[in-house]
Amino acid sequence: MEISEMEIINRPPPLRRLAHPALLELPSVNQGEILASSVRYLRFKPEEGPWVDTSESLSGVVPDFVATDKQTIMAEPVKVKEEQKNATLLPKEDAPGPPPNLPKLLDMTMENITGNTKLINSLNPNPRLKFLLESLVQHLHDFARETALTTEEWMTAIQFLTEVGQICSPTRQEFILLSDTLGLSTLVDAINHPKPPGATENTVLGPFFTEDAHHFSHGESIASPGKGEMTLVTGRLTSLDGTPIADATVDVWETDESGHYDTQYPGRDHPDCRGIIHTDTDGIFHFKCVKPVSYPIPHDGPVGKMLKVLQRHPYRPAHLHYKIQKDGFDTLVTALYMRGDPYEESDAVFGVKSSLIVDVNKIEDEERAKKYGMDVNDWWIDRDFVLVPIETAEKIRKENVEKAMANLKI
Ligand SMILES: [Fe+2]
Repeated sequence: MEISEMEIINRPPPLRRLAHPALLELPSVNQGEILASSVRYLRFKPEEGPWVDTSESLSGVVPDFVATDKQTIMAEPVKVKEEQKNATLLPKEDAPGPPPNLPKLLDMTMENITGNTKLINSLNPNPRLKFLLESLVQHLHDFARETALTTEEWMTAIQFLTEVGQICSPTRQEFILLSDTLGLSTLVDAINHPKPPGATENTVLGPFFTEDAHHFSHGESIASPGKGEMTLVTGRLTSLDGTPIADATVDVWETDESGHYDTQYPGRDHPDCRGIIHTDTDGIFHFKCVKPVSYPIPHDGPVGKMLKVLQRHPYRPAHLHYKIQKDGFDTLVTALYMRGDPYEESDAVFGVKSSLIVDVNKIEDEERAKKYGMDVNDWWIDRDFVLVPIETAEKIRKENVEKAMANLKI
């Protein structure tokens, strides 16, 4: 039975961009209710028996995807590895049956595949997942239709994504690099951490944050000797209203002078060039590190190949990463970028914001050098940070979501 045979028993306002008439007709409700509501509005004509309302019969049913076409497209034959030959097959009696009261998924075309895919995905009982899958399938299918994606291009993309997965390891996260270089990380970050005026801006976390950094007292160096030019970092942490934030954790990490994070060295047995410092009762903190340098993101893998094909360089401007946490405040993931770096305006992962560019000065004052245990002419970075109370951040996020929904006319 074709989807077109479905009857719509109630027509709420149309939803922009959705192609299939059945799922076009979604009511103006919040995200969580949209697909549940879309199911309520449909009736299907089963092979036998009367018309039924599917709103209840669909819940909890596990879809069964059956290969019906032996001409499934595969560019290359699957190579069976030795270990795969002994793989256990799923016992037939455990296979779920076909979902009842749904149209047959037969004779799919460019016109009806999207609606049918979204429809069978809507069996999922999780409303947020339904909403995400609805949008994902729509955009993915539109992309293929709009570009007239060729089989060769599609297989190239699959091969690329396979390689991205295969190079991943506990210390190498190629998918984050891919997300970063496609601008998606910056976009998701902007959506989830909007900042009011006066607050320190967020930027990308990157793939080199670790959970094992040691805690340091004020004035200690997070870098072991010989890792680069000694640099003093000072700062103060406050709330939007200027109130000092005491006992916050300031987690910082950076490369050594060769442009490598500790996790990139084979045999890493302890953290280096990273550490956690606590703010004092005045919100003040200071520590020593090495002068940040620009470095290329790992470009010996598929993401590096992609950048090369796109004629993009893989470099990030010199920076120092921060993750600042305090109960009651929105966690700040950010970085300070060194002014004058040659890659300041062409960061490979789109992380630089003007407000996060800082000067790296030499310590000229002897008293200051003495106070912090530094030498005159050592480097010095001074930058304060402003956190946003969690309620304020939530309020802005909610307003932004509502604005986005309004733009979509949902
Ligand atoms: Fe970095």
